[in-house]
Amino acid sequence: MKKRIGILTSGGDCPGLNCVIRAAVSHATRTYNWEIVGIPYATQGLLERKTVPLSIHGWDLRGIDPLLNMGGTILGSINKGDTLAHADEILAGYEAIGLDALIAVGGDGSLNIIHQLAVLGNWNLVAIPKTIDHDVAFTERSIGFDTAVNTIVDAINRLIFTAASHDRVMILEVMGRSTGHLALHSGIAGGADVILIPELPYNIQGMCNHLTELRDCWQKKFAIIVVAEGISVCSEDANNPSTCTTTKCGQGQYIAEKIANCSHHLIDTRVSVLGHIQRGGIPSALDRLTATMFGKVAIDLIAQEKYDQMLAWQNGKVVTLPIQDVINNNPSLVDPQGDLVQTARSLGIYIGE
Ligand code: F6P
Repeated sequence: MKKRIGILTSGGDCPGLNCVIRAAVSHATRTYNWEIVGIPYATQGLLERKTVPLSIHGWDLRGIDPLLNMGGTILGSINKGDTLAHADEILAGYEAIGLDALIAVGGDGSLNIIHQLAVLGNWNLVAIPKTIDHDVAFTERSIGFDTAVNTIVDAINRLIFTAASHDRVMILEVMGRSTGHLALHSGIAGGADVILIPELPYNIQGMCNHLTELRDCWQKKFAIIVVAEGISVCSEDANNPSTCTTTKCGQGQYIAEKIANCSHHLIDTRVSVLGHIQRGGIPSALDRLTATMFGKVAIDLIAQEKYDQMLAWQNGKVVTLPIQDVINNNPSLVDPQGDLVQTARSLGIYIGE
């Protein structure tokens, strides 16, 4: 029986979303001869009963492929609003559109919401993880993360030269509201001297001592600090975590001020906030590959009528897991005892206490 499949992208955008759309449309059309439609702006499109026709015409193998290297999402996305307050209208919209199954590409928050809607509406849902924060449980890869890490490493590569030329400490604030995967991966790959992440408490004096030691003992007069936006802003008393709070922005600036104080203004700092630059851009080869495999397997799952599953990358291949299990274990945080943290420490990177 010919199926009509919907696909939507939800939550903050990231590079690689268009690659999933491309692969799903291509496989559904070529292999199964199904119809596949895009739902613009995720649940908003369902609520408004809007669909976008998607076909391989225009991005087949004989022409210039517009979706493979295009960042963002051609379907649009939303990451704000009280979606569940409009559940009835969204469920009615889903029925009106007349889908046999839905592929939702989303992160921690948006997959949770869409899964709740799917349970209420008895939808045939297949979920695909995307997030530059890399905080979806049980998957070693999430679409967008690799590109974001590369973008941050590129920024560090640039900062290093100007840092060295002026003997400065450069502080780079990166995204990651509740997790430090982005800061940790890019900090190690970029050669940072200090990495501050939400999962590990830090000590201002300990960090300053580290910078001073680099300068005095190792004659390294410049340094790179990567700060996740979600770190706690603490008092100097690291033994008293109750004095820590999380603020929405300005962590990089906060760290700069603390370094100025504890070094008696001898250390010259500059702060860069990378912001949405790390969410945009052309998807890396790894993100393209992951997205393409996820898109292909999502269609095969629908062919097997295996629903309520999220695709994940484990041990070099795509596996499927019940969405509820993933949601129960989100967000996936950096393991303070994990190999990456231990590797950072063994390289002499200050990464907290
Ligand atoms: O969840 C992904 C993310 O990029 C976070 O790292 C960041 O804090 C947030 O989205 C930014 O959201 P917005 O695009 O709404 O500013």
